[in-house]
Amino acid sequence: MAKKKLRILVVNGPNLGHLGVRQPEIYGTQGMDAVPGMVCDLLGKNAAEVSLEFFQSNSEGGIIDRLTKAWEDKVDALVVNAGAYTHTSLALADCLAWIKLPCVEVHLSNLAARTDDPLRQRSFVGRHSIGVIAGFGILGYGLAVQALWKRLRG
Ligand code: DQA
Repeated sequence: MAKKKLRILVVNGPNLGHLGVRQPEIYGTQGMDAVPGMVCDLLGKNAAEVSLEFFQSNSEGGIIDRLTKAWEDKVDALVVNAGAYTHTSLALADCLAWIKLPCVEVHLSNLAARTDDPLRQRSFVGRHSIGVIAGFGILGYGLAVQALWKRLRG
């Protein structure tokens, strides 16, 4: 019998709908359309065992509704780049705390190095995540999927 695919929802928060265009000097020149190919490269033959879904919203409620639906739909794991809500949203943290889906927090930029903006040093997502990947641009999403694969199926 064919193995059940690992379903992973990739969630992007506000202003991440224009990756590649938005401040490319900080966030890079590639868009999310590069991610599936990256996952194939990183996972090799195992990529066929992963099913990726993508969601982006500029609204806090939209993200929370989608995460709740992921729980209802029994999605296996999450990759979350909540954009600026990372640093502000207790509501998002509350959602991740109860749905308890394995989650990897991703950021395109290296937040630890953005010391000009101390608010960016705090994350409400990290406390409910297995781990954090930051600073590798769009590759971070692929690495997060690979990490989830290793953790859940490796
Ligand atoms: C970001 C970092 C956040 O501080 C910022 O608000 C973003 C993008 C990143 O991917 O580097 O929108 O999450």
